[in-house]
Amino acid sequence: MGNQQDGRSAVGEERLSRFLARSGVASRRHVDALIAEGRVTVNGKLAVLGQKVRPAEDRVFLDGREVGGAQEPVYIILNKPPGYLSTCADPRGRRTVMSLLEGVSARVFPVGRLDYDAEGLLFMTNDGELAYLLTHPKHKVIKEYVVTVAGPRDESKIQRILSGIIIGGKRVQADYARFQGGDGRPLTLVIGVHEGQKHLVKHICRSVGYTVKRLIRVKVGPLCLGSLDRGAWRYLTPREVKDLYAGARNGWEGERKE
Ligand code: URA
Repeated sequence: MGNQQDGRSAVGEERLSRFLARSGVASRRHVDALIAEGRVTVNGKLAVLGQKVRPAEDRVFLDGREVGGAQEPVYIILNKPPGYLSTCADPRGRRTVMSLLEGVSARVFPVGRLDYDAEGLLFMTNDGELAYLLTHPKHKVIKEYVVTVAGPRDESKIQRILSGIIIGGKRVQADYARFQGGDGRPLTLVIGVHEGQKHLVKHICRSVGYTVKRLIRVKVGPLCLGSLDRGAWRYLTPREVKDLYAGARNGWEGERKE
């Protein structure tokens, strides 16, 4: 039962999507798209969604290159500066976060997007399982943002953010929100969200009349940006990796809504 649940069977088979994610080619959410786009073959035949493979015997290719099976997992935290794309490559040749990973030879990919002009915590790994756990909304991993906004300090806006806002026809609620800092400084909001829609925090702020001046992600579940310099990266400690797995599997509640 346990083996079947995690995608492996007793006869050495496992789901192709799990095998690809485990091999670090993309997160589990994205490997199905690679299969659907016809970019994956198994033993020379086009792969289909839901297919099983025997990693010890079958030859799996992505875009004509053999997928080599499990790699040593690598876990990185980067303090993304503004002006970088949080993707592995850009067809328009813009700078991506990959150019900041000097000295990293493993094929890591960013987990969860950060806008081009946004900054802060970007988790990167070649562990497709953990990437899947962290990004799937059902696991409710809370991301915390510190947002500098233009507009008046108004507690009723916090109440509106907490009671839910309609974005693209869907009701979205922040898990928590509060003002930070005192008078005389730019107005700053701390917002925790577990959903991952594009530009979510900007949409939330705009919908209550704030203009976003600066957006920094400071936490992903139990993982904190801390004092990492802008543009710098470091490997996670084994403890941090363990906490991320536990937080993603058990639901990391973060700060509770009042
Ligand atoms: N919400 C946004 O608006 N932008 C980000 O980069 C992340 C969350």
